Amino acid sequence: MFARPHLLGIEPLHPTEITALLDRAQHYAEGARAGTRPEPVLAGLTQVNMFFENSTRTQASFEIAGKRLGADVMSMAMQASSLAKGETLIDTALTLNAMRPDLLVVRHPHAGAVDLLAQKVTCAVLNAGDGRHEHPTQALLDALTIRRAKGRLHRLTVAICGDIAHSRVARSNLILLGKMENRVRLVGPPTLMPPEVAALGVEVTDDMAAGLKDADVVMMLRLQKERMDGAFIPSEREYYHRFGLDAAKLAHAKPDAIVMHPGPMNRGVEIDGTLADDINRSVIQEQVEMGVAVRMAAMDLLAGARARAR
Ligand code: CP
Repeated sequence: MFARPHLLGIEPLHPTEITALLDRAQHYAEGARAGTRPEPVLAGLTQVNMFFENSTRTQASFEIAGKRLGADVMSMAMQASSLAKGETLIDTALTLNAMRPDLLVVRHPHAGAVDLLAQKVTCAVLNAGDGRHEHPTQALLDALTIRRAKGRLHRLTVAICGDIAHSRVARSNLILLGKMENRVRLVGPPTLMPPEVAALGVEVTDDMAAGLKDADVVMMLRLQKERMDGAFIPSEREYYHRFGLDAAKLAHAKPDAIVMHPGPMNRGVEIDGTLADDINRSVIQEQVEMGVAVRMAAMDLLAGARARAR
């Protein structure tokens, strides 16, 4: 079902593993809504969160997920760690590994850093986002949100719009949605498309009307200024005019299309604030809710796989 030592990306996962993760997450989501206490499947295990980059949703939900399942959770304040004295990422990881944690949750600004770290430690590592590479639990929580809203996770048309080039969320979603046999369209200005876009095998357009036409799901992305090393758009005002999602542009999608955004949002830049808050179209808050369920499921399955391997 799910026998991997780590969760480093969507790329290596088989569709059956994705479904197993989502089914377990659905179980936790239903339990949370019913107000039932989950089995403390992580009792006696230690979870360490290492976030080398800012986070609200991912860090908080990993912490809540671990606590709900009974783990002893420690979130490192990386800015206050010995990294500031010049200690390397690997030495930091080896030091924490010597304290024998069971789960290490890592976010890092450099693509590949989490994979490297996973090769050096003896516990399960979960990638909480590495540079432009992958954000696997975000794609899984997006998939669960879509499956709950649409009743399936295949043969849907999904428009992923905005800053594709700098987005690990777009990359992980693109891989996951492709594995589950959905039609994906990338929509945004050519300056915000990755250089390898032609090789991705998906439809690409800089026209929101064409990109959103008959879409079941419209997924908006943040302009990731922290990863931009130059001017990629003329101005935020012009960007919003051409690519910001508002009711008029959404009218090109199916009447029951859902609106998604991984957060944090720039209201009035990539999405109209009123639309983002419209509970008849926007599932943004449900995405956040599913984040806890998906992270509970991921840690449960990884810890279970490790216990079975012992
Ligand atoms: N979507 C997401 O990763 O949000 P945070 O950066 O707040 O964790």
